Amino acid sequence: MTDRYAVIGNPIGHSKSPAIHMGFAAVTGQDISYEALLAPVGGFADAVDAFRAGGGRGLNITAPFKLDAAAYATQRLERAEQAGAVNALSFNGPAAAADNFDGIGLLRDVVANLECPLRGRRVLLLGAGGAARGTLPPFLEQRPAELVIANREPEKAAELAERFASHGPVQATGLDGLRRLGGFDVVVNATSASLYGELPDIGTAVFGPGCLAYEMVYGRGLTPFLRLARDAGVTRLADGVGMLVEQAAEAFAWWRGVRPDTRAVIERMTVPLV
Ligand code: ATR
Repeated sequence: MTDRYAVIGNPIGHSKSPAIHMGFAAVTGQDISYEALLAPVGGFADAVDAFRAGGGRGLNITAPFKLDAAAYATQRLERAEQAGAVNALSFNGPAAAADNFDGIGLLRDVVANLECPLRGRRVLLLGAGGAARGTLPPFLEQRPAELVIANREPEKAAELAERFASHGPVQATGLDGLRRLGGFDVVVNATSASLYGELPDIGTAVFGPGCLAYEMVYGRGLTPFLRLARDAGVTRLADGVGMLVEQAAEAFAWWRGVRPDTRAVIERMTVPLV
């Protein structure tokens, strides 16, 4: 019987996950189906129960259900605990295991695909919400020289820095403090500003020589953040399409025991940064 998988969210119509996972299934020869499931806000558990009753084996979780998924799980793996959110569930009988592959997906895109090692580098993470939080443990494991979290509301950045202080050299600042900190080797925009066409007030001094400017949002071409970087002379620009595909590959490997090659899928989904 074909094993069922899905991505669940609200809204969900825009999701690229079905195309990504069916692409992985084709290249690895796995017999799966993968659909997009719209669940009502407040109706996550019922929707998941119904999916499992119909033979569902695993789910990707997107907004606004990443915390509902954490509550639903019978077992949360370390990355999900650290991220404080869940982006994948795997069902086995009555057990529902939860993990979070967003951080590792970003890390793989930056280090492996974009060939930008973090060891000994100065890294700036913009934002202190859920997206930023999941990035901290895998990034700090790479032993950057320093990792600065900068957020519009500085207290949130300080809270995150304190939470992950034991993982490596992490500091916090408000956006206005950035002007004193000089240039970074890697700047990741983990704010949701680009979703609204907004630009975090960061100035251009944050972009050091040879800097990689990485936008977590994907498929929107040059966002205000990427345009700022480009206009400041940054030539290494990336959006989050690689992160999206890499986190999907991690989930696929977790469910199916085989890791698909990601390069062709990333190439197919890339929207030019113009
Ligand atoms: P996500 O799960 O995508 O991280 P979130 O938890 O709501 O979403 O966090 C959104 C992040 O984007 C926050 O760090 C927010 O900054 P504040 O904590 O100061 O609100 C940041 N953000 C959103 N719009 C922004 C903007 N226009 N400029 C700067 N930061 C912005």
